[in-house]
Amino acid sequence: MTYRYITTPIYYVNDRPHLGHAYASVHADILARYLRAVGHQTMLLTGADEHGEKIAKAAMQSNEAPRAFADRHAQTFVEAWRRLSVEPDKFVRTTAPEHAKVVSECLSRLFESGEIYLADYEGLYSVGQERFVTEKELVDGKLPEDKEPPVLRREPNYFFRMEAHRDWMRQLLLDSPDLIQPVQYRNEILKLLEEPIGDLSVSRPVNRLEWGIPIPWDAAHVTYVWFDALLSYVSPLGYPDEPAFCDYWPSVRHVIGKDILRTHTLFWLSMTHALGIAPYQRLHVSGHLLGSDGRKMSKSLGNGVDPLEAADTYGVDALRYTLIREVSFGFDGIISNAVIEQRLNRDLADDLGNLAARTLAMTKKYRDSLVPVPRAYDAREEAIIARASGLPSIVLTLVEEMKLGRAAEQVMDFVKHLNGYVASSAPWALAKDPDASDRLDTVLYTLLEALYSVSNLLHPVMPGKMLELQILLGASGKPCWNVPWGHGVKPGSCVKEGILFPKR
Ligand code: MSP
Repeated sequence: MTYRYITTPIYYVNDRPHLGHAYASVHADILARYLRAVGHQTMLLTGADEHGEKIAKAAMQSNEAPRAFADRHAQTFVEAWRRLSVEPDKFVRTTAPEHAKVVSECLSRLFESGEIYLADYEGLYSVGQERFVTEKELVDGKLPEDKEPPVLRREPNYFFRMEAHRDWMRQLLLDSPDLIQPVQYRNEILKLLEEPIGDLSVSRPVNRLEWGIPIPWDAAHVTYVWFDALLSYVSPLGYPDEPAFCDYWPSVRHVIGKDILRTHTLFWLSMTHALGIAPYQRLHVSGHLLGSDGRKMSKSLGNGVDPLEAADTYGVDALRYTLIREVSFGFDGIISNAVIEQRLNRDLADDLGNLAARTLAMTKKYRDSLVPVPRAYDAREEAIIARASGLPSIVLTLVEEMKLGRAAEQVMDFVKHLNGYVASSAPWALAKDPDASDRLDTVLYTLLEALYSVSNLLHPVMPGKMLELQILLGASGKPCWNVPWGHGVKPGSCVKEGILFPKR
């Protein structure tokens, strides 16, 4: 048995999830579903990042205690993922006592081994990004992703000797060209690692910020939110002693957005190295979803699509499909309601929905809704069978490279081919010709069986609709991977008519 471990970012719970969050989570969920379908023992982790200034500030603004505020918002995320068919196996909360225990133990271990020391720090701090920033990163006096400029701060902080791990990190990236994908992000970090990166402040004075995990040996400080949050990738596995950690960790792939690339490379790689944890297997870095104004989609700019409203309007599966098809992973791109509607109407209703509706209607009309027994195959069917049999491995290769949109595209190209096959075989003409009865059986069977393979291939992307399709096809209603041709729909079983994707 092979174990696979996929994580989403652990989201700040200062607001409801927006489409950018959904983009990362839906990608991670689809990846995990494919891996599960193939038979890997797969764990998907998501969760809530609940400490730090950002949350404390948001709680204060809504006149709530941070814990009550975080409880409420964490629940919003749990519910949003349920609505978007994102099904995590674990939902970590950084306020959970089990997590805090792991953070305390890691801090103590690093302090005792001399990896953490106390010093005065003065620098520019971005509350938006929850980290100290350098002058070089600022554009017009602030980080491009922030609303407000960073503030100057001087305070005693505990520091982690991140700089001491720089050479090791650089070598790691040079030795593992696939560690960070797509490659432009690896190159960006390699360039950064050519120059000193400094040490990492891992604490905040409690007189400024109380909302955090206490530094175990010094009650005057709490843990820096990123040091806490990154460890939430290992704490739910029972790090360091539980078998789940040994089983799942070696296969870990983190799915993140490019805004948190530095923290997931400089911070996290050096932390794991210092703790003796193996580096992650892969970091999948997405670009940003942009609003129709071309700016990074965010709640504060109000330029976003609400994922829950979009799911209500267009259907959750059309939304999931659009998220992976419309913006290639790793690149920036715009998603608006109009774009979702177009994907729904064209790809899903016109191509896939129409193929299913026609095939099912013809089976009803010409064969009393019963799946016929196929007779002789000719070159056209042979081509379809070859394609259906080859697709699972093509799809899987793309999925492993996080090219989920390309994987879905391959299947949708097959759907287009099948629509062409309907047109060229003209079942309606065959039905009029008493000598063409065997041929009609073959054509209808081929279409039904091909649709069944499509339903399996796209199930991870559109779990609800593809299950519905299997039920219409009279099949088990349970997705299977790599079903050999001839073992999907059963001759003699009954199909039903239905509209999978109502057009808008
Ligand atoms: N809490 C940290 C992550 C800690 S991980 C140990 C954090 N949270 S966040 O809620 O601000 O956002 C996390 C992620 O949401 C981003 O990295 C990105 O994956 C996703 N996105 C937020 N806005 C986005 C877009 N507009 N477009 C695409 N994804 C973006 O940072």
